Order: sequence, then C-alpha cells, then structure tokens
Amino acid sequence: MKTLLKSGGRSRRASSQRRVTTIASNSVSATPSFNNGVKYGLIAAGTAAIVGGVYYYSAETLYASGKLDPPAYPWSHRFPWQAFDHASIRRGHKVFSQVCSTCHSLNLVRFRNLVDVCYTEAEAKEIAAELEYTDGPDETGEMFTRPGKLTDAFPKPYANKKQAASINGGAVPPDLSLITKARHDGTNYLFSLLTGYKDAPAGIQLREGQYYNPYFAGGAIAMPPPLTDGQVEYEDKTPSTVSQMAKDVTTFLAWASEPETEERRVFCGKVVLMTAAMLFPLGYYKRYVWNVFKTRIVRFNMGKFAPPPPPQNIRWRKRERSNK
Ligand code: HEC
Repeated sequence: MKTLLKSGGRSRRASSQRRVTTIASNSVSATPSFNNGVKYGLIAAGTAAIVGGVYYYSAETLYASGKLDPPAYPWSHRFPWQAFDHASIRRGHKVFSQVCSTCHSLNLVRFRNLVDVCYTEAEAKEIAAELEYTDGPDETGEMFTRPGKLTDAFPKPYANKKQAASINGGAVPPDLSLITKARHDGTNYLFSLLTGYKDAPAGIQLREGQYYNPYFAGGAIAMPPPLTDGQVEYEDKTPSTVSQMAKDVTTFLAWASEPETEERRVFCGKVVLMTAAMLFPLGYYKRYVWNVFKTRIVRFNMGKFAPPPPPQNIRWRKRERSNK
C-alpha cells in the first residue's frame, strides 16, 4: 500500500482500476466485523464509563475537601422570570454599611447605583454626604476632605492589603462587589456562611483568630462571626435576627454583583417571546423562498467522463452464522 501511494500517478490509476474490477466481480470484499448496532452500543457504553468514572472520582475529591455544600434557599430572584426583593436590598445595604463595611470594601458599587433601586436620589445623596472623602489636590496643591457625592464608590476600610492583613490576623477580607459570582452557588453559599458558624468539632485544631465554619473550604475561617441578633435597627421594623440580616445582606450583594439582572431578564423575555412569535412565519417564508431550489432536478451530461453505471442485481453475500 505504501509503495502504491508513493508512486503517484500510477497508483491512482491502479487503485481506481481495482475499484472498478471489485464492483464488476460482484463480490463483497469488506465484510464488516461488527454490525452498526453493536458498534454504537460499545461507543455509548465506553463514553458512559468514562463520564461516570470522572464524575465518581471528582465527587470523591469534592467530599474530601472538607466543605459542606449549601442547601438551596427560595430566593425571590432565583428564576429568570423573577426579580430582586428591593425592600430586602435596602435592608441589606444597611447591614452592609453598618457591619460588613468595617472590614470589606465594595469597590464596584457607587452611591448613584443605589438610586431607584433601594433609595430615592435625595436619600442616596444624604447617605453619601454622611461620609468623608479625601479629594484634591486643590489650587495650592493640598489634599482636602469633602462630603461624599453620588459618584463616589463605597469607602475602603483599609489603606492597602498589608494593613488589612495585619489587622485581620494575616487574612485579607476580600472585596465583596462580585462575591456571589466568585463562589460556586454564591447566593446560597453566602447565606450559609454567615449563618453557619459552629463550635469546632472534636479533633479539629483552630489557630488563634480562626473560627469554625463548615461551609468555608477547610473549615477554619479568619472572619469572626459578623452578625448577632438585634445588631441593626431596620427602618421597616423587621426583626433583625441573624438569619434575617444574612438574607438581606446576601440579597444586597447578589444585586451588587449584577445590578443589571432585572433589565437583562426583561429584555431576554422580550427576545424569547418575539422569537417564538416569528418562528412559524419565518419557517413558512424560508420554505417559500427555497421551494424552487429544493424541488428541481439537475442532470449533467458528462459524456465519456460519466461514472460507470451503478451495478445492478448485486447479490450480497449473507454473513455466515455458525451454530457452533
Ligand atoms: C472583623 C472584620 C470582618 C467583618 C465585620 C466581616 N468580615 Fe467577612 N471576612 C473577614 C476576613 C478577615 C475574611 C477572610 C477570611 C479567610 O480568608 O479566612 C472575610 C471573608 C469573607 C468572605 C469570603 C469567604 C470566602 O469564601 O472566601 C465573605 C463572603 C465575607 N467575608 C462576607 C462578609 C459579610 C457579608 C459581612 C457582613 C455581614 C462580613 N463579611 C463582615 C473579615 C470580616
């Protein structure tokens, strides 16, 4: 075969001659060793075995990581046709600014983002103005402090990472702008993390400044339990239990990580409806336009280059079955 391939023009002629003679001699040269059913069955079984094996071993690895999977909670924004609970975002902002913001930054959220989401413009301005920002330099080259404006980002609790680490026993509190996206099953994880602090079980050694939380990978977290009952006074008189505050701040952070969720969902709904409505007319129109091409027959007169006529009356040799 190799020598045939190498010898160029001659080989092509030789092989085409062989093909013609094979057909003319009415014999079937290649009897398939498997029929197709068996072949595809084996491929499917092999694929299933590989996928199953990978799943089994990765599940083992996940269990071994010593981390509890959070349960699924019925968030008001769980499904694409649902929206955020905006009263909860408002309460959550209060929890964030009174509790979490002492250690965590929220770099990607500005006060103007809160307008018409959970505050009116006047309220948001007032909240921003309660904070002091360093700005400048002014005409004399000096930095100065001024009250916050709508265009300011949430204030950073620490000047830099080194300072954050030295105050928090070596661990840097991460920025929370995208935290529900940055963790697997982020919303459920965050709620479970905030409400999941436990006494360390026997046999688990915690270092100074570590707390036990089964939802945190490894179990030992450097964040002290941030929430205690009654820590925040809500304007709407909702009782501020730990789980209520955890739910509210989680909703707030889920909103913060994707403030455009609701617009995107409304737009997506429109697209789906429009596409559904257009499907039938477009399908009809496509058949209408292609009708001419789909129903015509094209014949070529190839003269002496015409391929040999298809062999008639081939008697395919039956596969021999032995009863041995
Ligand atoms: C006393 C400071 C402090 C406060 C207050 C605090 N945190 Fe933390 N937080 C930390 C530190 C430190 C870490 C880093 C923990 C680690 O890496 O072990 C952290 C980590 C986290 C993480 C990341 C966990 C992970 O999977 O990596 C989340 C989420 C979080 N905090 C949310 C919150 C929320 C929400 C609040 C407010 C209710 C809050 N924190 C209040 C100090 C704090």
